Amino acid sequence: MTYQTMSAPSAIETVRSDIEAGAVVHLWLKSRAPNERAQVSVTIDGSDLTEVTTVQTEEFAFREIQIPRAGLMELRGHSPNTSISVAYAFNPGRVWDEGIRVLHHSVGNAPPDISYGYHFRPPFGWMNDPNGFGRFAGRVHLFYQHYPHSLRWNNMHWGHAVSEDYVNWRHLPVFLFPSNELSQRDDGRGGAFSGSAIPTGNDENGDFRIFFTEQVRDRKPEEQIQLTATGGDGLRANASSVVLPARPDGLGLTLDFRDPYVFLGPDGRWKMLLGSRDKAGGVILLYDTDDRHAAGDWTFVGILHRENRFGMTAAECPCIVPLGDIQDTETRWALIFGLLTSRDPSTGRRNMTNVTVGRFDGQNFHAEAEQELDFGSDAYAFQAFVDHAGPVGIAWLANWTDVSKKEDFPTAMTLPRKVVWDGSAVLTPPVDAVSGLRRARLDSQRLLARGERLALENGAVEIELDLARPGARFELLFEHPHMDVGVRLNEEGLEILFSDRGGKLSPRFIAASARPSTVRIFVDAGSIEVFADNGRWTGTKRLPSVAAVRSVQLLAEEGAIADARVWQLKL
Ligand code: FRU
Repeated sequence: MTYQTMSAPSAIETVRSDIEAGAVVHLWLKSRAPNERAQVSVTIDGSDLTEVTTVQTEEFAFREIQIPRAGLMELRGHSPNTSISVAYAFNPGRVWDEGIRVLHHSVGNAPPDISYGYHFRPPFGWMNDPNGFGRFAGRVHLFYQHYPHSLRWNNMHWGHAVSEDYVNWRHLPVFLFPSNELSQRDDGRGGAFSGSAIPTGNDENGDFRIFFTEQVRDRKPEEQIQLTATGGDGLRANASSVVLPARPDGLGLTLDFRDPYVFLGPDGRWKMLLGSRDKAGGVILLYDTDDRHAAGDWTFVGILHRENRFGMTAAECPCIVPLGDIQDTETRWALIFGLLTSRDPSTGRRNMTNVTVGRFDGQNFHAEAEQELDFGSDAYAFQAFVDHAGPVGIAWLANWTDVSKKEDFPTAMTLPRKVVWDGSAVLTPPVDAVSGLRRARLDSQRLLARGERLALENGAVEIELDLARPGARFELLFEHPHMDVGVRLNEEGLEILFSDRGGKLSPRFIAASARPSTVRIFVDAGSIEVFADNGRWTGTKRLPSVAAVRSVQLLAEEGAIADARVWQLKL
């Protein structure tokens, strides 16, 4: 295969690649000059196939090209004023096994330059919340909030990937697009916001249906309405239709009305949660339907739950999973949602995510206990579904509080996590497949030897510590070129130490009074995740640099650490 990309605003953009008969190419183009049409001509082995054009200057326009014969394909802009954002190719029959082949992206939407890394990242462009996480046709599907053309939030699409094990992913074509109106300009007015997906067929045909919020800023009377679409061929959503055109009346809700999460209730009916807000704070709404296909007849049941603390505004991305058999009235359910704009006064952490445990009879949720999902607070918009072996969830490895409109912000998803009830708390340990990332054992004796530094090669590592007794004090200090990063356990609790050395006071990422016996730490380009006592305490922190940690040093009293194991990880 040959592969070549040239792009500079002063030059004609050309993309060359071998291509096979039956392939499909997706590309986005726009004009840099208001009075000039953008045009890309497509040739195969030098003979003309077709050309795609647009008069759009503000936002890239999407075009699909069918390739009838094999050869060397050239995509060529007709003047320096034609700009191509992304081009990828795929074979519709084999894309499930092979994924897409990215032929071109620009400097502005390039993924971070890391040659390793075991966290899910988009192939180009911006990513936030996981959406539609579920198993259809035997494969795990992950959709996500996506903007293809830069590393900043803008009008939302749904990106898409599939996996067999939640860890090794193949990128698929962009699944869902903003409406035509929103696709004209890159003005961040809305698009296909977060939502969920449910299976509607059997395991073989893999049919599924998605639900999402369509947001259009300043639309009257509703900015946010709920839509549904069937999954089509699984590669692009079919045409969508509105299921909820307006908020429920009479509740004094603000315009916030988003992130439909559809799931099977204990009464065998499809239920939908939505995040909203009123004067007092965050509100989670419950709807349900008698329609077996969940396509319509959605009726408002009531307010499922509310949360008014920590100065929060809207409840975002609500999700609920049963932690046992859904028919059993003793089964506890975990209700998980983002507390937008919340701030924990004791640590300074913002946009926290709560897990509320309670019983759910299909109509009412009786809360019994509450805990924070993640003491690092960079596990936002957590979404889970019940897979064969129980609930599994994944979150955006970031927090809106760190996002700036003026800076690129590459992100990843967290490691996928099980959601387990141990009788008194919800545990969120990594899924078992994460252990399959272990490649080489590093010399843990070096770590245990007092004051020694263990080199961490490319920085993609897992460290597992067995403590001699619960809560035994230790400090693990990583050497990172741009920031101070570590993990500490002492009488105050378990803490991710973080400073970007910029002098700004960081919140404290601490699980107060945690006294674990085992701690698993995952470090990757741009992140650190801590799972203590099988995920009884889980902490995730995005590192604002993808540079590798170089080494680690363990500080502990003699005999405090019973054993340590360190692995180099690789996908
Ligand atoms: C949460 C969120 C959702 C919304 C989406 C937009 O991170 O604000 O409430 O649907 O992001 O991208």
